[in-house]
Amino acid sequence: MKPRSLVSLFLIMSLVLLGCRKTEPDSKESVEEETTIQVEPTDKALVVFFSRAGDQFHVGRIVEGNTAIVAKMISKKTGADLYEIKPKVDKYNLDYKQLAELAKKEQDGRGRPEYLKPAPDFSQYDVVFIGSPVWWGDWPMIMYSFFEDNELQGKKLIPFSTHAGSELARFDYRLANIYPYCSILKGLAVLGEDAQNDRDKVGADVDAWLKELGFEIKPSETSEDASIESSNEDSSQSPSEQKSETIESSGE
Ligand SMILES: Cc1cc2nc3c(=O)[nH]c(=O)nc-3n(C[C@H](O)[C@H](O)[C@H](O)COP(=O)(O)O)c2cc1C
Repeated sequence: MKPRSLVSLFLIMSLVLLGCRKTEPDSKESVEEETTIQVEPTDKALVVFFSRAGDQFHVGRIVEGNTAIVAKMISKKTGADLYEIKPKVDKYNLDYKQLAELAKKEQDGRGRPEYLKPAPDFSQYDVVFIGSPVWWGDWPMIMYSFFEDNELQGKKLIPFSTHAGSELARFDYRLANIYPYCSILKGLAVLGEDAQNDRDKVGADVDAWLKELGFEIKPSETSEDASIESSNEDSSQSPSEQKSETIESSGE
């Protein structure tokens, strides 16, 4: 194994172990009673996500982030709009080891990195998927910047993560504490390397999860009927080519 791979392996093991550590407020112990809530056919959905391309654990230099791939799959299968949380200053364009250090500093200092605004008008949505990579066992701090700015009370929130071993990293419990008047529906955790390299498997997992939540998957977008576009094709797609609307942050 190359020295760089060893460093990455060591880092990721520390990250996964730290995944159990409690960082942001997290007092609500269970969202169990809400796991049976389903979406209604008339519900309008939005997918909010943060993701990062570049040097990534286990998958090398990627053109499209793992979470972005899953977010776009969800959007295509459900017709949900997409909103990407983008940092106001692109300080995450680092190699993996440097990024891990920066993210740790942000977490320890409870940083609230700024993101490009405006955020969408949430009043038109009933259901909001919220996804990001797991960073140091938690939502990346930029997600807390978003949570603190945006009122989502009363909506059905559906967390999803991509990760390297920490699974959902209690994203659902954390959301339940931040938004106590929301229903938190069953989340999905996707291994980052699968999102990047095994899209048939991830497509089937996403289909099964969405069906369980009560979504009717668009006929042409089930994993049996449509092969998920292969690596990074979506990034070249213009918004008008996508079936759903992508809401772009325009900056302040
Ligand atoms: C700064 C940083 C911290 C990470 N911490 C964890 C972690 O605690 N647990 C885990 O399973 N994976 C961790 N990972 C791996 C990412 O969650 C995983 O590679 C993810 O799929 C990246 O998604 P993205 O390409 O959308 O950014 C970390 C990655 C980075 C860059």
